[in-house]
Amino acid sequence: MNWHNKLYFGNNLPIMREHVADASVDLVYLDPPFNSNANYNVLFQEKSGEQSAAQITAFEDTWQWGEESEATYYETILKGGKLADLLQALLAFLGRNDMMAYLVMMAPRLQELHRVLKSTGSIYLHCDPTASHYLKLVMDGIFGADNYLNEITWKRTTAHSDAKQGRKALGNVTDILLLYTKTAEFKFNPQYQPYTLEYINAKYPYVDSDGRKYGLWDITGPGGAAKGNPMYEVMGVERYWRYSRTKMDELISQGRIVQPSPGAVPRYKRYLDEMPGVPIQNLWDDISAINSQAQERLGYPTQKPEALLERIIKISSDEGDVVLDPFCGCGTSISVSERLHRRWIGIDITHLAITLIRHRLHDAHGTELSPYEVIGDPKDLASAQALAIQDRYQFQWWALGLVDARPAQNLRKKGADSGIDGYVNFVDDASGQAKRVVIQVKSGHVKAGDIRDLKGVIDREKAAIGCFITLEEPTAPMNTEAVSAGFYESAFRFEGTQKIERFPKIQILTIDQLLRGKHLQYPQHRVETFKQAERKPKSKGEQVELF
Ligand SMILES: C[S@@+](CC[C@H](N)C(=O)[O-])C[C@H]1O[C@@H](n2cnc3c(N)ncnc32)[C@H](O)[C@@H]1O
Repeated sequence: MNWHNKLYFGNNLPIMREHVADASVDLVYLDPPFNSNANYNVLFQEKSGEQSAAQITAFEDTWQWGEESEATYYETILKGGKLADLLQALLAFLGRNDMMAYLVMMAPRLQELHRVLKSTGSIYLHCDPTASHYLKLVMDGIFGADNYLNEITWKRTTAHSDAKQGRKALGNVTDILLLYTKTAEFKFNPQYQPYTLEYINAKYPYVDSDGRKYGLWDITGPGGAAKGNPMYEVMGVERYWRYSRTKMDELISQGRIVQPSPGAVPRYKRYLDEMPGVPIQNLWDDISAINSQAQERLGYPTQKPEALLERIIKISSDEGDVVLDPFCGCGTSISVSERLHRRWIGIDITHLAITLIRHRLHDAHGTELSPYEVIGDPKDLASAQALAIQDRYQFQWWALGLVDARPAQNLRKKGADSGIDGYVNFVDDASGQAKRVVIQVKSGHVKAGDIRDLKGVIDREKAAIGCFITLEEPTAPMNTEAVSAGFYESAFRFEGTQKIERFPKIQILTIDQLLRGKHLQYPQHRVETFKQAERKPKSKGEQVELF
């Protein structure tokens, strides 16, 4: 099959419209930014707690009623139909506020998702209780109330203990996942949870000579003759039974019917290891959120646990199926789809997410990673220039990705700027201490003073190397200034002898050079820039671990 998995950078609405065919997707999982301040998808929070300019640029349209909401609203209602009726009713009720802007942003995207879903497909809409009831109406309007399957409550965190600080509300510890299907012909693979020890001890208290745990279960026919149960004698006991005589004889010959004591009512012998576990219900309280210590944590604030996605993907898709995540963040659904042998399409509007996903996929799947393409990334100088004009923060994140750098945690307000846009960490000695390449990205006019500033930053931050990425060509004085900074020397042992490697202390790299394959130079014995995604071997089958 000539299929490549796909990672799109950009706004999911036009991307779905242009690139995703009708009825081509088996499973959609979407985790849009929530419309609640508490869960606001803050990529970079300023120290003061205000949202950073970058965040606002990325999500402004999503959150506030403005020209775009007005235009999308009219575009949707002029098409008529149930969704139009619903949006008009919601506008009358909510008015032109942030919640309405959010719903108007979501409505056409959900319509596209309906279009691209196969008739056997399912969609999981992950939301929080602030918006879930409105979104359910919108989903009813698009997918039809008949195709509503479940409202799943995921207990994502343990109790909040802020009651003492005067909180006058119950703690919100759950998210909601709305599960809809396209038609009644949807795929559904029941999944099971392990039995609790308490249940096992109560129901499977016996152990066979070969060590297998078993329980004894009632085989009398409830409702007696009225329910059509046959009466006959088994091991000297006459009762109404739930099996026909023939079936009963077969079970007896298999050693499955036992009499616990002489004269007692025979019972069915059921082995624990033959049982699949407890079928999953719509309350998911057995999957914890990614905490600060979690192995899989990549530092993306809204990252969801892999176990959550694993469950969803296993319930509603098979190997080889296509999973689409139009708000894919740091790529949890994508990485799990890859591990479970699904095909995948991911879309995200920030380069930060796309850069993280690329690393995650390579770290987690290594040589087992299926081929994938990144679409929408600038591939030449002209498109890089266009991105810089359109949004300089996106340009910065994208450019940092070219040297595998991590964006500085809070893309600070320029002015109070500490002069670092990103960094690469490395370790080149036995001290266990990471050293740092600090990186500045400039999309505008550059001059020798910028390199002098970078030197100052390197000294202040005690960094090993400084890298200056520029869209414009550097001037001759800039190059002179960079060369005058000298070298960073890295000592290492090779075949018993001490070697010294030298790296320019200040490296100026143009976007053009980077696009042509030039690299940042630093000791790469062990790169520690990104918190590496845990290596995830691909699954061998769909069997769940029960014990
Ligand atoms: C809540 S996060 C998703 C987190 C993800 N489930 C994970 O495990 O990492 C929402 C994501 O939607 C992206 N986003 C917001 N608006 C978008 C749009 N219009 N098109 C594509 N992506 C968008 C944001 O950049 C953000 O990464």
